[in-house]
Amino acid sequence: MKKAVSLMALCAVFGATAAASAAQTALPRGYEKWEKSKARINTDKKSLFYGIHYIYVDKKAMKGYKSGGAYPDGSRFVAVNYSIKEENGKQVPGKKNMIVVMQKDRTQQQTGGWRFAGFTPEGKPSGLDGKRDCFGCHEKDAKDRDYVISRYTDFK
Ligand code: HEC
Repeated sequence: MKKAVSLMALCAVFGATAAASAAQTALPRGYEKWEKSKARINTDKKSLFYGIHYIYVDKKAMKGYKSGGAYPDGSRFVAVNYSIKEENGKQVPGKKNMIVVMQKDRTQQQTGGWRFAGFTPEGKPSGLDGKRDCFGCHEKDAKDRDYVISRYTDFK
């Protein structure tokens, strides 16, 4: 009997672990082939996005992006950030330093129905928390555009 109880406890722990990892967002494979923005520069040294970044948008997100409207579940954005390098008086991308992902998931009510995730340049989870580290800016800047800050019109 005792054994049965501990087995059940073990199952509960595994179940919880599986649920937690399912809620984690993976870096999408092949995002480099999605539609890509021109280089976008942010010179505010205090910003998480200080540097030069590109935004990648998957097919599912494109309709909402173009209309500035709502996004179906599964829509994904990836932004890849680089340091700023001076080259012949021009600012060009230097070293890759961060990858961030937004994936639409209606169940994530605390963060506007999106999963926010941060990754190292190698694509490993960087331990950033969507609610604590990401949602604030997106809520402030783009509440009326389903929390997507950039616009398709300034994409190209
Ligand atoms: C300092 C404010 C700020 C914080 C904090 C922030 N973002 Fe953003 N994010 C922005 C801005 C501004 C843009 C638009 C950039 C542009 O116009 O090129 C953006 C764009 C994005 C995009 C492209 C889609 C869009 O909204 O335009 C993704 C994906 C993204 N952020 C994910 C994240 C994740 C994940 C985190 C947390 C790890 C995070 N962001 C934290 C300000 C922020």
